[in-house]
Amino acid sequence: MKHYLQFSDLDAGEYAYLFERAALIKKKFKAYEKHHTLADRTLAMIFEKASTRTRVSFETGMYQLGGSVVHLTTADSQLGRAEPIEDSARVISRMVDLVMIRTFEQTKIERFAEHSRVPVINGLTNEFHPCQILADIFTYIEHRGSIKGKTVAWVGDGNNMANTWLQASELLGFKVHVSTPGGYEVDQSVAGLRSGDSYKVFRDPMDACAGADLVTTDVWTSMGFEAENEARRLAFNDWCVDGEMMRAARPDALFMHCLPAHRGEEVEADVIDGPQSVVWDEAENRLHAQKALMEYLLLGRVNPV
Ligand code: CP
Ligand code: NVA
Repeated sequence: MKHYLQFSDLDAGEYAYLFERAALIKKKFKAYEKHHTLADRTLAMIFEKASTRTRVSFETGMYQLGGSVVHLTTADSQLGRAEPIEDSARVISRMVDLVMIRTFEQTKIERFAEHSRVPVINGLTNEFHPCQILADIFTYIEHRGSIKGKTVAWVGDGNNMANTWLQASELLGFKVHVSTPGGYEVDQSVAGLRSGDSYKVFRDPMDACAGADLVTTDVWTSMGFEAENEARRLAFNDWCVDGEMMRAARPDALFMHCLPAHRGEEVEADVIDGPQSVVWDEAENRLHAQKALMEYLLLGRVNPV
């Protein structure tokens, strides 16, 4: 049994399969062709933080695969009344085939997975957001081909998205140029890297963007860190992706943002709504990529790819 708790839980060969499979699943979806490979399977979705894309993509994705879903939140389940995560895992995983969790500490999802009889998927933790990077790289491939050897500029917080980009770069052979304000740096041990070879740190976000194939950013304040809002607002003022940064990147560079976005904070409106932005494809591709992922965790490789 395989869990998907961080990006490094799958290898490069498995990602190559998933990207091909996601493309096929997307093609069938666009043609209104039925694709019920998970008929009668049930996905439990546990949300301890808010969501739009993750909820809609997992829920509709499972229905489109012929299965069904159960939606739980901290507020409306015993999770909010301190039932141990281990007990919740034992119980929920006896009734469903697959579990997706969005929560706070990575250790929480790891404890759940340890006591689960079924595969567990990380729908975002404080440390990682692997499903988003899965969709982002699928989106990059759709627009530009292989990401191997390319350069991704990360502008902003050294957060769950940054950590996951770093893991992906080590696994899939591309570089990340990271620029964060002081005090918000990426931490190689939190990101769980084998070495520091796949990324480079720049103090000035313009330098990180120079020559990049993809420029990407995220909110200044992630969910769970709202108490730091004011301090972050001051610290991140110069880490706003604007036209000048995009012009420093390659002329064919793409812009990505996992969304939700705050125009005028981490990105200017003319960038996110401009011609280099692929944010709506990124959001849509959560659906197709996660359908491929759910299928893979339950069925393994399916022929034809
Ligand atoms: N990008 C992303 O995970 O969006 P939601 O928080 O809306 O799920
Ligand atoms: N880094 C953000 C991503 C939201 C999808 C957060 O964790 O809130």
